[in-house]
Amino acid sequence: MIIAPSLLASNFLHLEAEAQMLNESEADWFHLDVMDGRFVNNISFGLPVIQQIRKTTKKILDVHLMIEEPEKYAEAFAKAGADILTVHYEACRHLHRNIQQIRELGMVPGVAINPHTPVQLLQDILQDVDLVLIMSVNPGFGGQRFIPHTYQKIKTLRNRIDQLGLQVKIEVDGGVDLSNAKALGEAGADVLVAGTAVFHAPAPKEVISSLKHCTD
Ligand code: DX5
Ligand code: ZN
Repeated sequence: MIIAPSLLASNFLHLEAEAQMLNESEADWFHLDVMDGRFVNNISFGLPVIQQIRKTTKKILDVHLMIEEPEKYAEAFAKAGADILTVHYEACRHLHRNIQQIRELGMVPGVAINPHTPVQLLQDILQDVDLVLIMSVNPGFGGQRFIPHTYQKIKTLRNRIDQLGLQVKIEVDGGVDLSNAKALGEAGADVLVAGTAVFHAPAPKEVISSLKHCTD
């Protein structure tokens, strides 16, 4: 299992220490949630913050764009140090072109879907992405309750990916914690994002370790 703690729930006054904690932990990726106040009803952080975080770690920066017109900013995120760039299906009129652009910029492309978007709509883009991010809450805020229908979406998508013989990873984002991690892994998730469950815990590194080994 790949564990990607979401820095959205971290203490922004102590970002360097939070990054250091992740570096010392079994976390695989840093999950960075960028919001524009248009695609979602919230504004988080952007390029200058990601540039600084880049200096703190050699781990993979997994950037989740919850923004309109992500194609306008893809190059800037590449320069800021993003390794994975995930855009929303619902935000891209020319998703295929956007995905190609991300790859040409040297990043790994991902596509994210909101809770109401059927995984079946990814049929004609699955061949072109390395990652599908299934939102298990409505995007925009941390600390929301996990939507159980997500399990079915993961299973359906896992079957389709395996049928096609693809190597696409399934990432689950929103309301993930120790109570659902194992079931998510069994349903077919490869990557777990966790914000609140990690950063609001008294012992974040232990939570990361437990999430990491949830299906052992
Ligand atoms: C929500 C973000 C998530 C969020 C998850 O829009 O995409 O990555 O940080 O936070 P928790 O784990 O608290 O639901
Ligand atoms: Zn996210």
